Amino acid sequence: MGPKDFIFLILLFLISSSTQVESGQNGFISFGISQTGLELAKDLMINSAISSLIPLELPQIEQKVQIPLVGKVRMVLSNIVIYQVNVSSSVVQPGEIGVTIVASGATAGLSFDWSYSYSTWLFEFSDSGVASVQVEGMEIGMTLGLYSQQGTLRLSPQECGCYVNYISIKLDGGASWLYQGIVDFFEDDIISAVENTITNKVIDVVMELDSKFQSFPKEITFGDTAILNATITDGPIMSSTSVLFGIDGLFAQIDSEMTSGSYGISLSSDSSCKNPEKMVGISVHEKVFNSASLVYFNTNKMNWIVDNLPNQKLMNTAGWRYIIPKLYKEFPNDEMNLNITILSPPIIQIENDGIVAAVNSDVVINVVDGEVIQVACISMVVEASGFAGISSSILAGNISLSKLTMSLKWSKIGTLHMNLLQSLMSTVIKTVIVPVVNLRLRIGYPLPDFHGYGLQNASIIYGDSKIIVCSDIAHA
Ligand SMILES: *[C@@H]1O[C@H](CO)[C@@H](O)[C@H](O)[C@H]1NC(C)=O
Ligand SMILES: *[C@@H]1O[C@H](CO)[C@@H](O)[C@H](O)[C@H]1NC(C)=O
Ligand SMILES: *[C@@H]1O[C@H](CO)[C@@H](O)[C@H](O)[C@H]1NC(C)=O
Ligand SMILES: *[C@@H]1O[C@H](CO)[C@@H](O)[C@H](O)[C@H]1NC(C)=O
Ligand SMILES: *[C@@H]1O[C@H](CO)[C@@H](O)[C@H](O)[C@H]1NC(C)=O
Repeated sequence: MGPKDFIFLILLFLISSSTQVESGQNGFISFGISQTGLELAKDLMINSAISSLIPLELPQIEQKVQIPLVGKVRMVLSNIVIYQVNVSSSVVQPGEIGVTIVASGATAGLSFDWSYSYSTWLFEFSDSGVASVQVEGMEIGMTLGLYSQQGTLRLSPQECGCYVNYISIKLDGGASWLYQGIVDFFEDDIISAVENTITNKVIDVVMELDSKFQSFPKEITFGDTAILNATITDGPIMSSTSVLFGIDGLFAQIDSEMTSGSYGISLSSDSSCKNPEKMVGISVHEKVFNSASLVYFNTNKMNWIVDNLPNQKLMNTAGWRYIIPKLYKEFPNDEMNLNITILSPPIIQIENDGIVAAVNSDVVINVVDGEVIQVACISMVVEASGFAGISSSILAGNISLSKLTMSLKWSKIGTLHMNLLQSLMSTVIKTVIVPVVNLRLRIGYPLPDFHGYGLQNASIIYGDSKIIVCSDIAHA
């Protein structure tokens, strides 16, 4: 990690922690875009600006000019079109009022139709043809004000300018004096038409981008049950090397009438940001996971009947003959099952070495003797630790059982040997439940992409109640 990255990550930590101190419940997901991320955004923006710019028509230019030996001539340049712009180098620099982008050494290709007419006391002359112009050493600069308004990111053109160093004109046909006439009388007009038209068009492009920002949804749907509040709550904060902003980031239950997009659920990974300069950092507070946990809990019946174990003997009262004699005496040779119910939303904490989820549950021991008879109930707290990883836009992970605590709630069959039950439950969880969960987690969840761009080479840092995903962005 270079020193620039380090500062970037510190800033990211600061923005995501300060928001909690100040507002208590805002801004649980923060985004930081580093210099390399801004470079990518700038290149994309320049490319899309050029393709929306071209072909660019300039207003017609007309002049009555006095040409030596010819006299007064009416000349018209029409159909003036910039058909190509090349940008050879560009820089991006975030600053206090916004992000400045300068494209320099740009060239443009331009074509126009020329025509002229003049009359002497005897004749009327006119001619027309085409010409091409190479615009050289063009500099286009703009400062984009970046701010948030009612929870949306906004962009406004603060300063925009275009400067043309020189142009070279090539005429097809025409009289010999014409070339010099066009150079003498139209060069400045062509240059200022190019400068003004490009400046105005760049402002249009920024306004278009701004309206795109405004059309970003303030809520992102995940599956058909949850929405994530994407309202901007913090920033954008601009330092000299990065742009940071935070969104509310909490999950809520979807309104029944809302339609759904299909996105993955955020968990996360791997190693720390060791690689040099990642483009983006995304910090996700554990409250985000807990809000998702609450939505999931409220919309899914979290209940399992376990009646199949690797050691199937334990699913018959006979297997417990010597351990719980009363059970076998009352229900000799009957099938048994366990009814596990999750009582409250799993509590998720991000610790330095991973994600820890604590699940509160009741385990009811049933005997199946024609009918289902509840014989005992155990309160059980399961702690699982998990890791996540992101590879090719898939978020995948795994969990393992890290701690199990059990206590007897009630029993119709006398005292239970809690140690024995605990090791039985531990086996049930490790061999039945964890593999099922891991099977799903290993397949993973696709991460949303943005206009074909997604995370690449992501790594994840855990700690301080949040995870930070450090990643590059690339075309998926
Ligand atoms: C989304 O978050 C913002 C900022 O925290 C909050 O004001 C707004 O009420 C939230 N929207 C919903 C639908 O919860
Ligand atoms: C732009 O670049 C292409 C490819 O390098 C070149 O063929 C073309 O002449 C350039 N156009 C201008 C206007 O400089
Ligand atoms: C399992 O337990 C839950 C909660 O006590 C109960 O609602 C459900 O009916 C039970 N299911 C079976 C099959 O015993
Ligand atoms: C769980 O995931 C972590 C990180 O992706 C990995 O290092 C570990 O080997 C995985 N464990 C299992 C049992 O798959
Ligand atoms: C991701 O990592 C691979 C291997 O280290 C590298 O070849 C590739 O360029 C990286 N991708 C990006 C977008 O940095």
